[in-house]
Amino acid sequence: MTGQSQWLIETRDLTRIYGDGEQIHALDHVTLHIGKGELVAVMGPSGSGKSTLLNIIGALDRPTEGTILIDGQDMSSLRDLDRFRSQSVGFVFQLHNLLPTLTARENVEVPMTGAGGPRERSERAKELLALVGLGDRMNHLPNQLSGGQRQRVAIARALANNPPLVLADEPTGNLDTVAGQELMGLIRDLHRSQGTTFVVVTHDHAVARQTERVLVMQDGKIVRQDVIGSPLEEDLKLWRHTGLGRRLVEKKEDLTDKLGLSRGEVTTLRQVLERADVAGD
Ligand SMILES: Nc1ncnc2c1ncn2[C@@H]1O[C@H](COP(=O)(O)OP(=O)(O)OP(=O)(O)O)[C@@H](O)[C@H]1O
Ligand SMILES: [Mg+2]
Repeated sequence: MTGQSQWLIETRDLTRIYGDGEQIHALDHVTLHIGKGELVAVMGPSGSGKSTLLNIIGALDRPTEGTILIDGQDMSSLRDLDRFRSQSVGFVFQLHNLLPTLTARENVEVPMTGAGGPRERSERAKELLALVGLGDRMNHLPNQLSGGQRQRVAIARALANNPPLVLADEPTGNLDTVAGQELMGLIRDLHRSQGTTFVVVTHDHAVARQTERVLVMQDGKIVRQDVIGSPLEEDLKLWRHTGLGRRLVEKKEDLTDKLGLSRGEVTTLRQVLERADVAGD
């Protein structure tokens, strides 16, 4: 990746048509921008084009019309697609398709390229498994792991070549609520600590709320975009509407004694609450 563009993903009028007779517009003139280091969710009903979009972003499929630039580079002019896929993108799918006869560590090693000899690959795989909280499960086979643990192996594998972009299609789809939330927590941590850009397709609103922005698709189009506030902002916004939050903002009474704060501190608190409220609306 050249690193010249402010956008990691930029599409213009991206269109994907299936079929010759009766045509299906799986994607219909999608124009979108995803910045470097963003954590984005894609939602929408079944058949709305989410997987098609992900496949085109990951160069597993090509658009019928329109353009897609990854880090400023037009994908239609990219010659070595295999190299792009292995170096620049990590894939996580709902059916994690780990190889059943390989251990967790060996599965993570599969996509590694140019990581030196077997020893280096093994060390890197161990580091990644530790990173996803599976340091004590390296030598387990997939069928000796829980669904959530397998999905974490799939994420470690997606990170094998340290790609700037990870595409996840329903990564929490077959997990229970708790395991799904844990997996999203992991994705958020990785996004923060490694600066990886994640695009996560999900049906689950609780999962989408853990991201920074939600793209909502319908009939091959992006019909809405919601920006999700930071958890702190969301908490402040809620607190702003509690009894105490309201009393603070309304300034009708002097709360310094009651709160055990100085006048300056009360003013600061009030300003923070007022700002949180405005920012969230
Ligand atoms: N290979 C294909 N050949 C023909 N039509 C296809 C093909 N792949 C997808 N489609 C059609 O394109 C549309 C978008 O499919 P896509 O898989 O992107 O939906 P999705 O939003 O991922 O749905 P889901 O939530 O069910 O996974 C659907 O109408 C689907 O039937
Ligand atoms: Mg799909």
